[in-house]
Amino acid sequence: MFMQLIAWVALFFGFAAIIYLIYQVYSYVRCGCGKYGPFVSSYGKIKMDMIAEARAALKNAKKPMKITDLGCGSGVLLLPLAQEFPEHEFIGLEWDIVPLTMGKIKAKLAGLKNIKFVKGNYMKESHADMDVIMCYVLKVTGEPLGKKLASEIKDTAVVISEMFPLGHLEEVKQIKSSLAGVPEKIFVYKKPTAKIKTTAKTASTKKSVAKKETPKTVKKKAVKPVAKAPVRTTAKKVSTSKSQKKGA
Ligand SMILES: C[S@@+](CC[C@H](N)C(=O)[O-])C[C@H]1O[C@@H](n2cnc3c(N)ncnc32)[C@H](O)[C@@H]1O
Repeated sequence: MFMQLIAWVALFFGFAAIIYLIYQVYSYVRCGCGKYGPFVSSYGKIKMDMIAEARAALKNAKKPMKITDLGCGSGVLLLPLAQEFPEHEFIGLEWDIVPLTMGKIKAKLAGLKNIKFVKGNYMKESHADMDVIMCYVLKVTGEPLGKKLASEIKDTAVVISEMFPLGHLEEVKQIKSSLAGVPEKIFVYKKPTAKIKTTAKTASTKKSVAKKETPKTVKKKAVKPVAKAPVRTTAKKVSTSKSQKKGA
């Protein structure tokens, strides 16, 4: 009897291990063989810091906001926020059916009506109407994803990236965090205003140049003719000729 039980337990764990291995291979292939981040859940301090940063963006909102997690996994970032902020709408975007289904089940069990899990590729979906965008993507994905977000997000949108920087967006701040005791960072971005800033800078530089240089130029111009004797002579000559003309 005891040996039979051990055999059943071994069979169960063996079967589970095979399923897990098959899933790992599927997940690796699904994620472009290393091009995109596979399903790894946020956890520990960095997860709490990500949630805290999103919370800061949400708590003072004057109207209902839309929050997404690009590659949401099983929704560990979105679910606690959806519970805390029933007035806002949460959209988890994920292309892997396994974590996506886990997220859907968790949301249902928690009775949450303000969160939905959508199957899709975040590189192909539009994020134009999102107010807060969270992500935990690989460094290599940060470049194309940043470019896409920079071109389409709202001016007011906040982008919060866990561990890996995104390209093309304007950095607002970096938050020091940690994962299993190892120092890590959270990157906060907004839509780039670089062009506007450059123009503004150029304009202000031009103004200050004008402010600084004009008096000098004026001085030089004013001083030069006075200092040079021939000019004075010319001026005298001119006035003489004028008075001569008047006299005539
Ligand atoms: C590192 S996990 C992060 C999961 C979740 N955001 C979290 O913090 O727990 C990255 C997730 O993104 C998904 N993913 C990767 N590339 C994707 C893509 N192009 N479109 C949608 N999901 C993607 C993966 O399947 C994986 O579940």
